[in-house]
Amino acid sequence: MRSHASVSIAAAVAACFVILAPAAQAADADSAQALARQNNCFRCHGVEKAKDGPAWKEVAAKYKGKPEAAARLFTHLTTGEKAKFADGHEEEHKIIKSPDPAKTKNLIDWILSL
Ligand code: HEC
Repeated sequence: MRSHASVSIAAAVAACFVILAPAAQAADADSAQALARQNNCFRCHGVEKAKDGPAWKEVAAKYKGKPEAAARLFTHLTTGEKAKFADGHEEEHKIIKSPDPAKTKNLIDWILSL
C-alpha cells in the first residue's frame, strides 16, 4: 500500500515539473554532480563510460529531442523501477535521496544536457 502511494505521489510531482519547468533553463552542473556523488550514482554510471549502468552521455543521446525525457527520468529515479544490468540480471534501480525535488530535476537536466 505504502509503495503505491509513493509511486503516485512521484508521478504527480513529475507531472508538475512537466508543466512548471522552464525547458530552456541551464542545469547547475556542480549541484547536479554533488547530488550524484552523495547518492553513489557514480558507482554504476560514468559521464563518458558505461559501468554497471549506461554512461550518462549515452542516456542523453538516447533521449535527444524527446520532450518526455525529463519526466521519464524523474519516474526512473524516484520509483525504483526495474533496471537491467549489463550481465542481464534485473533489480530495482536506486531511488534517489534528495533534499528537494528541484535538485533531482536539476540532476536530470544536467544528465540530459551531456
Ligand atoms: C547499482 C547500480 C546503479 C546505481 C547505484 C545507479 N544506477 Fe542508474 N542505472 C543502472 C542500470 C543497470 C541502468 C540501466 C537500466 C535499464 O536500461 O534497464 C541504469 C539507468 C539509469 C539511467 C537511464 C534510464 C533510462 O531511461 O534510460 C539514468 C538517467 C540513471 N540510471 C541515473 C542514475 C542516478 C542519477 C543514480 C544515483 C541516484 C543512479 N542511476 C544510480 C544502475 C545503477
